[in-house]
Amino acid sequence: MSDDAELKMDRPVGETALDRGVQGLVGEPVPRVEGRRKVAGDVPYALDHRVDGQLAHGFAICASIGRGRVEGFDTEEASAMPGVLAVIVDDPLIPRETGGFSDKKLVRGTGQVEHWGQTLGVVIAESFEQARAAANAVRVRYTSEEGRYDASASHGTAKPTGKDAMLPDLVMGDVDGALKHAEHALDRTYTTPTHIHAAMEPHAAIAWWEGDKLTVYNSSQILSLAKSMLAASLDIDEKNVHVMSPFVGGGFGGKGGLGVESVFAALGARKIGRPVKMAITRQQLFHLVYRRSETSQRIRLACGADGKLTAFGHDSIVSQKPGRDFFEPCAFGSIALYRGENRSFTQRVMTLDLPETGSVRAPGEAVGMLAVECAMDEMAEMAGIDPVEFRKLNEPKEDPSRHRPFSERHLVACLDEGARQFGWSRRSASPGKKREGDWLIGHGMASCIRINQLSEARARVRLAANGDVTVEADMTDIGTGSYTILAQIAGEILGAPIERVSVRLGDSDFPKAFGSGGSMGAASAGSAVELAAEDILKTIAMKLGIEARELKLKDGHAIAGERRVPLSECVDRSIEAIGHIEPGKMEDKFDQASYGAHFVEVGVNRSSGETRVRKVTSVFAAGRILDPQTARSQVIGGIIWGIGGALTEGGEVDTRYGSIVNHDLAEYHVPVNADIPPIDITFLPELDNKTNPLKIKGIGELGISGIGAAVNNAIYNATGVRVYDFPVTLDKLLEGLPQE
Ligand code: MOS
Repeated sequence: MSDDAELKMDRPVGETALDRGVQGLVGEPVPRVEGRRKVAGDVPYALDHRVDGQLAHGFAICASIGRGRVEGFDTEEASAMPGVLAVIVDDPLIPRETGGFSDKKLVRGTGQVEHWGQTLGVVIAESFEQARAAANAVRVRYTSEEGRYDASASHGTAKPTGKDAMLPDLVMGDVDGALKHAEHALDRTYTTPTHIHAAMEPHAAIAWWEGDKLTVYNSSQILSLAKSMLAASLDIDEKNVHVMSPFVGGGFGGKGGLGVESVFAALGARKIGRPVKMAITRQQLFHLVYRRSETSQRIRLACGADGKLTAFGHDSIVSQKPGRDFFEPCAFGSIALYRGENRSFTQRVMTLDLPETGSVRAPGEAVGMLAVECAMDEMAEMAGIDPVEFRKLNEPKEDPSRHRPFSERHLVACLDEGARQFGWSRRSASPGKKREGDWLIGHGMASCIRINQLSEARARVRLAANGDVTVEADMTDIGTGSYTILAQIAGEILGAPIERVSVRLGDSDFPKAFGSGGSMGAASAGSAVELAAEDILKTIAMKLGIEARELKLKDGHAIAGERRVPLSECVDRSIEAIGHIEPGKMEDKFDQASYGAHFVEVGVNRSSGETRVRKVTSVFAAGRILDPQTARSQVIGGIIWGIGGALTEGGEVDTRYGSIVNHDLAEYHVPVNADIPPIDITFLPELDNKTNPLKIKGIGELGISGIGAAVNNAIYNATGVRVYDFPVTLDKLLEGLPQE
């Protein structure tokens, strides 16, 4: 496979075929191309695929101690149970836990229990129920050891992350000194609990073997990674592995690598010579899929009477289990966010014997911005400056930490437009002033940022003589709209109405396009599609003897000046091209991020302390918006999650045993429809030519950034109570509420 069109992002992008497109697809609110099939239940998620052969079912055996040794298994009773085909507890390939973005393979071995819920084996049976019953009948003999399960008691043990960490410490000047001499100074610590991935679609797999060839349907964000990890985890050659995830019902980072279910299904299928289906249950997921670390974040701010920050510190403590490098990079978004010559952004990691911590939607900003933006609100009040004004006063001209320019940054425009739409000027600056019966009404706001990234990607595009366009890549659609935006890009450039574009994704045999993660799926796969389509357009221009920029393709016709010819006259059978995008110098030369501003109205019940979010207005600037409809869905998804993070969400660790006790969606509270008010979304026009040929920036993780702080700031404005320990549940408000 050789590339026809390659681009390394070493310099800004000029005018592209996409900019010149006249089909009218990109930038339009095109509904999801698979939407009708999806709501009709007609698209297969991992567990839905039909396969040849008689399916058997797997169920994981999970550790019920927090730390210790496995001395042995008693499997006789389980093996004799009805329908049981295999009890696998002694295979050396047994995986312990899910693997994330930066893993090469799953950790193996059942000897040591490193955390509650770790997998120890699998039962394969004729039915799911039989497998589950037998898995519960396997007796595991343990020797328990003492574990470190209490995050808040372990802060003193936190250690620096090292120079090569993904987010190295950054310290400039003297933050404490600046605080001592400043007109206004603030030093606050915010805490957030552990957050759990709970994608709607289970982590699941169906696996079967034909000779030494393994085929797996699973639920993966990045197929090339799932494939290489599966091969490495099973000690087999990658070329014998075929992974397909055509539809993924949510990932959020938790499906970024490979889950144990794929390995167990493969091991089971090999053992019994039949296809095996296996899913992780919701309750197992709470311990088996890496979680977001609990955090303790110290924010230090200092400013003069003019409101200009002289110091900005964001220093955090997070946790990880032994032997893992990832840490929640709380200060990810903070580093270039506001001015202040004295700066400190550090991460300390404590080692706990709890389930692994890893990437959960917007690693860093999702919890980091909760702390930063609540502190900014309190600081603005202390300085007697409106919170919107205070942020504008502290808008830097360049990245103040690394002294490099921004690619495009329109945070101030987002703040202004959001304030205007929301009617911010009517807000009462002093808290506790607005009431409606039993409800205290308040308004709050926050800035929002998410780092922008690009990953290497390839995609194949084919234009047929009849005008039909086909796109193929191992890209995934995790509910985000990948099928739709890739069809829009290819159709826009190649003159195909949306229904004439067929996009085929989610198959590891297709060109390697990165996948979905880090808000870079659209930019990476989309750029590869853009490059391939532009290359096809060039081929047609050459045939017509004109310059590519003179050629427009629309509705199956080539148009150049006065000439308008059907594509069948300039395309023999079909033209195919592979596009290839690579990140380059632009990501080091320019600070790249998407921005936004959230404005929120809440009501807090004076008797119960219950908070209701009544209104959300959010304005974003995130490069070109490919499809305002799918983009809106992305940011409101993030906003809803962030509202849950502010008000209800959190894993409760039993510090005696290291288990998460609220391990299902009955006890782990996320918002339902009735908790979410109308959300007004605006995207400001922007093209960022430093990011990628599409001039877009990531939006998948943008909405969640800052929204929780806007909610908490609104709660303060309603009640006069500031809460520093998330989530802001009613018990934390009750005592401080005005009693008449
Ligand atoms: Mo994301 S947490 O990088 O899927």
